[in-house]
Amino acid sequence: MFNLSHHIQQIQSSPTLALNETARQLHASGAAVINLGIGEPLNPCPEAAIRMARAKLESGQVKYSPVSGDSTFKEAVQKYTVDLYGRTPKLENITVTVGAKQALFNLFQVLLDPGDEVLIFTPYWVSYPEMIKLARGVPVKVATNEAFIPDMESILEAITGKTKAILLNSPNNPSAAIYPPELVAALVDLCESRKIYLIMDDIYNQLVFEPGEWVPGYVFTSHPINKSHLVVVNGISKTYGMTGFRIGWAIGATPVIRAMNKIQSHSTSGVSILLQEAALGALTGGAETVRELQTLIRTNRDILVRELRKIKGLRIQEPAGTFYCFPDLQEISGDSEKLANLLLEKAYVATVPGSAFGADGFLRLSYAGSTEEIIEGAARIRWALDPDSPPDIVIAGETHRRTWEIDRL
Ligand SMILES: Cc1ncc(COP(=O)(O)O)c(C=O)c1O
Repeated sequence: MFNLSHHIQQIQSSPTLALNETARQLHASGAAVINLGIGEPLNPCPEAAIRMARAKLESGQVKYSPVSGDSTFKEAVQKYTVDLYGRTPKLENITVTVGAKQALFNLFQVLLDPGDEVLIFTPYWVSYPEMIKLARGVPVKVATNEAFIPDMESILEAITGKTKAILLNSPNNPSAAIYPPELVAALVDLCESRKIYLIMDDIYNQLVFEPGEWVPGYVFTSHPINKSHLVVVNGISKTYGMTGFRIGWAIGATPVIRAMNKIQSHSTSGVSILLQEAALGALTGGAETVRELQTLIRTNRDILVRELRKIKGLRIQEPAGTFYCFPDLQEISGDSEKLANLLLEKAYVATVPGSAFGADGFLRLSYAGSTEEIIEGAARIRWALDPDSPPDIVIAGETHRRTWEIDRL
């Protein structure tokens, strides 16, 4: 009746955001929900971010930002890139966007012609296939091994004359894997030589458990940024716990960045100047917040992985980065939506089914919340899924009995 475009009818809504909404509503209705679903650190944002945003607001001068971003903020992104990547982009190589999400969205819009292919590795972040389709491109899914690492042979097989880009997210959401430097080097080499864009979604690059395990793609190319096919995407959401500020950026060759700015000039007109000021506070004065988050997620990871390993039939890789883990529950059930629903309805624990990431039989659990919640969440998951655990559990003062047979899920 409302005659929407054929195109938009091919696009799925984000399942993680929908699940978060369900968890939020359950919580609002008084249920003792533990949300291990959303990919969001719960720590307060850096004090410097609040101070700088407040000063900007009080100045009464909150006007349009330059389309590609405020130059002072771009200078901070430039310094961040020097410090963490050992490369110095010019300001014209940087565009500031509404989160890393919009950087990726705009990038696909400017790179893809209808039918152009983008290689993504399974399991993949939920938004990649839909963003690629929104730009009239075709997501080509490349399988990975047990450790969630793709091999060059499969990558080379998947490449066709229509391959325009390869998308690499390391540390990875949802698998928490970090791609080995040899693989990144080979991909950089392949992309530079074949003029395929290598999009590096580095949003978790500071959330790494073994220092030095993550190596920036720039290390493996001798091309200056303006001659390179590498495009780096990053932002403040995950590292600084500033998801709601919606600030991200992309760094790439000027023609790519200028094209992205064109979209920005006709869509958002650029990112809120007030929120860029807060992001400037984070990049220049937020190091302590990052360290605190790194410490918290290491503690949480160790507890969660140790507890999950006690569950019969569950297998789990040690997360190398991010604040996710991605246990394999195929021995318990191959239907991860059913598992996620059971955990939410019976144990009041929100998780994300692996099917959302192209990997049914897995669940993604986020552990960026408080350690108390992680301990409680792990206990409830074990109660719900492990037939060898005691049949009763107390949730918010009420005793619950496990009444379902795990092997019939
Ligand atoms: C892999 C990956 N890339 C990009 C984003 C988007 O981050 P932002 O909040 O900066 O838009 C997310 C957020 O969940 C993510 O997991």
